[in-house]
Amino acid sequence: MKAYFGRRYTISASHRLHADALSAEENRATYGKCNNPHGHGHNYIVEVLVGGDVDPETGMVLNLADLDDVVRARIVERFDHANLNLDPLFVNQVPTTENLCRVVFGLLKHALPAGELTRVRVEETENNFFECEGE
Ligand code: NI
Repeated sequence: MKAYFGRRYTISASHRLHADALSAEENRATYGKCNNPHGHGHNYIVEVLVGGDVDPETGMVLNLADLDDVVRARIVERFDHANLNLDPLFVNQVPTTENLCRVVFGLLKHALPAGELTRVRVEETENNFFECEGE
């Protein structure tokens, strides 16, 4: 039987929602305030859910400290107090939180020392959250 282990991390980052393919007017109509040229910030809560068999020796799916090492190195250090628009992974895609979920999933998918990345959930505000799952 599989078990699941979830952990949350906080990232403060800024972004501006702007699609290069749209005109200035279309961008304003599509993204509203979020298209403001100066950008704005969020305290994102990134939740990572890992599933797998429980190791009979340790009783764990994945050691919490090992997950922290990977998420800190690949996600927190990269995006915390950063402007998402300037990250190479967002050069060709709008840094919406849907896309942030997909980027986080892609950066962690093959980096976990045990278990399988099942879901990434990002809370952007207390009312908005986004999720993505492996295919
Ligand atoms: Ni925003």
